Amino acid sequence: MFRSHFSSELSKKLVGEKITLAGWVHRRRDHGTLIFIDLRDRDGLTQIVFDPEISGDAHALAEGIRSEFVISITGKVAARPEGMINKNISTGEVEVHVTDMKILNPAKTPPFEIDQEKDVNEELRLKYRYLDLRRERLQNNLKLRHQVIKHIRDYFSDNGFLEIETPILIKGTPEGSREYLVPSRLHPGNFYVLPQSPQQLKQLCMVGGLERYFQIARCFRDEDQRGDRQPEFTQLDEELSFVTQEDILKINEGLLVELSKKFLPEKRIAHEPFVRMTWKEAMDNYGSDKPDIRFDLSFVDVSALMKESGFKVFSDAVKNGGVVKALKVSGKADMSRKQIDDLTEVAKSKGAKGLAYLALDQNGEVKSTFLKFLDENGQKELLKFLGVNKSDIVFFSAGDFVTACESLGQVRLAIADMLNMRDENILAYLWITEFPMFERDKETGNLQAMHHPFTRPMDEDIHLLDKDPEKARAVTHDIVLNGNEIGGGSVRIHERDLQEKVFTLMNISGEDAERRFGHILEAFSYGAPPHGGIAWGLDRLVMLFAHEPNIREVIAFPKNQTAQDLMLGAPSPVTEKELKEANISLRPVK
Ligand code: AMO
Ligand code: AMP
Repeated sequence: MFRSHFSSELSKKLVGEKITLAGWVHRRRDHGTLIFIDLRDRDGLTQIVFDPEISGDAHALAEGIRSEFVISITGKVAARPEGMINKNISTGEVEVHVTDMKILNPAKTPPFEIDQEKDVNEELRLKYRYLDLRRERLQNNLKLRHQVIKHIRDYFSDNGFLEIETPILIKGTPEGSREYLVPSRLHPGNFYVLPQSPQQLKQLCMVGGLERYFQIARCFRDEDQRGDRQPEFTQLDEELSFVTQEDILKINEGLLVELSKKFLPEKRIAHEPFVRMTWKEAMDNYGSDKPDIRFDLSFVDVSALMKESGFKVFSDAVKNGGVVKALKVSGKADMSRKQIDDLTEVAKSKGAKGLAYLALDQNGEVKSTFLKFLDENGQKELLKFLGVNKSDIVFFSAGDFVTACESLGQVRLAIADMLNMRDENILAYLWITEFPMFERDKETGNLQAMHHPFTRPMDEDIHLLDKDPEKARAVTHDIVLNGNEIGGGSVRIHERDLQEKVFTLMNISGEDAERRFGHILEAFSYGAPPHGGIAWGLDRLVMLFAHEPNIREVIAFPKNQTAQDLMLGAPSPVTEKELKEANISLRPVK
């Protein structure tokens, strides 16, 4: 054994005992005759002391060691003298007086310091991820991730779920992203597709009578990267048979409450049970399908009032089937010109043509981009309708429903940031239900599934599939935490006919449907139970629990913003021989 104890096991109780420790040289301080080293292992730091009076050999050896050398030492645990106690580390009351040391491996000077949590360029951190992993931040994040996953496994096991692995080399399963392809050597010209999620396989587990499935599942999506996205990421994936949406929400809510209380005991869950809101309500009131409801700002619809108004931007929007939404911020009429300009830019970045506003200052003077276009009566009516008081400011967005709502939704968030309204100590969980079944692809004009094509339409909207499919709502549920979508799921279609109909509406013809989804259609004709489920973005949840700004901080070996692994150097070219075996010939890169 290289060690008798981990640093975490040392305490005053061991004073006088001979122990052996192993780890990395974290810091070395030469105090003339005495040399002090902070020895680091996974659990912490221990001060070790080299005294030539105790061991001349060890002391001589210690003179040559540097940061990050791997060493093992034997020595006696001693209480630190009064005044030398370090309250910041768990071993701060003791030190070890070294009698013997072995250098297990020397180390070059690392490209960044391990012992300081100062900012290091992220590219460098990713290239030397194995060194970055030695730092406290990532060690803590990965410990938290492990604990969260362990709790999840126990919870599902206690609730009658089986953890089942599904394959990675599969056939495409649509979740709306581009897919990663893997060429088949044995079947030239054919490809496996990496799963965007285990969606179809977990449904087939339900057809297979497994009733309650979960998996900590790796998913692959070839999409543009953002702080909360990775090309490969991990879902907590679940599927249940013979359940209603209510059952799925209850089980998941129970687990989220347990995890929050265990890992974030200092925070307050804003609402228990969690707030539920339909997609329409969320868009209507907050301009987002994942609203942050930690703060109390919501929209008022002024479309009806503005339809016949003299301000063409508003009246035209309503006459063209759109809306005018207003957002009142009380007591903030003194916002600066620059702040208003910044908010206007935010609205424009979401596709709005502009951002109108009106403000009533302390003296009752009105400042507005548009009020002058309304007649006196119209002005009065609007102010009354919105309940505008002195010092209030109101922002307006007009346009088609989604653009007007989403742009004002972004303005809402920007105001919250500006005014420090997002309380770090609150956990505002929220279920969003009843997403539309379909949205129209802007390029092809085809209907596409808003969640995925296996999602069940609401019973009361099934008749709309023939007449007005874009109005049909689905039995979906997204779970949102403080404005982040941390999971999504639905009750599924389990009848072959209905599934075929949905494919047809999405312009996936009989033959095409058979080729791509024949397996699941056939499975549905052998007695598929009613079923449904959900998947959480596990990296996102751990990121929020760890107070990290992006998911790379909670993944051991993440990819960078352009989907590269800088440590491994992936992706990379392969040899001619490998290409030949895979029956691939490369086109010239454009
Ligand atoms: P969905 O596509 O909504 O649903 O994914 C579920 C959750 O996974 C997380 N997520 C991601 N996390 C990191 N990087 C990504 N690229 C990424 N993409 C998604 C999000 C999201 O809420 N099969 C369905 C689930 C179901 O219907 O049961 C699915 O995958 O937090
Ligand atoms: P314009 O007529 O384009 O000069 O716009 C008059 C005012 O209305 C300006 O303050 C614009 O920022 C604002 N505005 C323009 N389009 C919209 C819109 N779609 N929604 C809200 N305000 C807008």
